[in-house]
Amino acid sequence: MKKKVVILGSTGSIGKSTLDVVEHHKDEFQIVALAANRSVAVLAQQVKKYKPEFAAVFNEEKHEELVSLTEGSDVETGAGMKDVIRAATFDADIVVAAIAGSAGLIPTYEAIKKGRVIALANKETLVMGGQFIIDEARKYGAALLPVDSEHSAVFQSLLAGKKVEIRRIILTASGGPFYNYTLDDLKKVKPADALKHPVWDMGAKITIDSSSMANKGLEVIEAVRLFDIEPDKVEVVIHPQSFIHSMVEYTDSSIIAQMGEPDMRTPIQYALTYPDRITGRVKPFSFENAYNMQFLPPKNNIFPALDLAYHALKKGEYGPICYNAADEIAVEAFMKEIISFTDIPVVIEETLETIDSSTVSNIDDILKIDSSARKMAKEIIKKISVI
Ligand SMILES: NC(=O)c1ccc[n+]([C@@H]2O[C@H](COP(=O)([O-])OP(=O)(O)OC[C@H]3O[C@@H](n4cnc5c(N)ncnc54)[C@H](OP(=O)(O)O)[C@@H]3O)[C@@H](O)[C@H]2O)c1
Repeated sequence: MKKKVVILGSTGSIGKSTLDVVEHHKDEFQIVALAANRSVAVLAQQVKKYKPEFAAVFNEEKHEELVSLTEGSDVETGAGMKDVIRAATFDADIVVAAIAGSAGLIPTYEAIKKGRVIALANKETLVMGGQFIIDEARKYGAALLPVDSEHSAVFQSLLAGKKVEIRRIILTASGGPFYNYTLDDLKKVKPADALKHPVWDMGAKITIDSSSMANKGLEVIEAVRLFDIEPDKVEVVIHPQSFIHSMVEYTDSSIIAQMGEPDMRTPIQYALTYPDRITGRVKPFSFENAYNMQFLPPKNNIFPALDLAYHALKKGEYGPICYNAADEIAVEAFMKEIISFTDIPVVIEETLETIDSSTVSNIDDILKIDSSARKMAKEIIKKISVI
């Protein structure tokens, strides 16, 4: 029996890599539903190739174009949030949650409520949803399998020991394109510079976040949630070659690491086939390229976004929601050249400091905090941009 797969965010970097995995394992997987925001030309090509039963675009203005581009195929199409949710809750064995940013929270949550196996790329679901999402997943019997390469590596390394035996989780980070920059160099960074990642080919938001270390901050929060571990047991080490995807140290000082080529198809495929492994298309690891593997410290004085994630966690459930919202707004403003690259952590920090604390007991609380933090971040940006 083929596994029925839904991909939310099929036109993005993770979505396309997932389709590449499916393409080469046609006997294992069958695509039943796809969803994207507005890239209808790409989505229509995917529909023709993978023949899902349903395809949705979030942007309703793009629906007519999708209908016309998919004419002649048997696919049913839809638009808007309700139909992205319809894709998310389609009868399936596994839902790949690969929408970028906070837009991924609600569709992923709806899939969780159906008790699906979720291949989770959208880290924002856990960063924003926190303990609430973990509890809901448990309540509805949904499994959250990490796709983020670091979390997949930790997930695999955790098979080597018991939870009580964990000393620390060590997330690796490439350091991004600016690791050797001074603060003055960093002030002059333009969006085009921050969009050039030295190792990974990813969507725009996560690439900018990798340059500022906010992505590692989001990953620290994701790890704390996913592996139910104290923040001070999650550390980050810079490993520019990105061959070791992350590690777990146990109480006997053994470190178990997962390594391989930096190619997202490996963690995606593992989430799709878990607990089994099947032959993949990623090239075998070549040690010739890895004789100079390095491990370096994060430079928190130059890239404060990582430390701010620990700070956000200390504030309680609302902290990470504010961190994520402020970062999304700040990255948007940086891309429009309204603020400078070094202003991104300033917006996050000021939002965290200014916003009132609040409790989280349901999804509406999360959305309310997210919305207040966005408003606050925009006000802070207005002040910064006139200076
Ligand atoms: N890329 C990586 O290597 C990587 C690694 C680890 C984790 N992640 C995480 O995976 C997620 C996706 O990253 P990515 O790099 O693949 O992003 P991306 O290339 O920007 O793709 C984002 C996808 O989400 C879709 N989308 C955006 N808003 C939507 C909405 N409201 N409803 C439905 N679809 C929507 C986009 O559609 P359109 O094309 O129509 O805009 C696109 O298909 C992020 O949370 C990221 O942090 C990515």
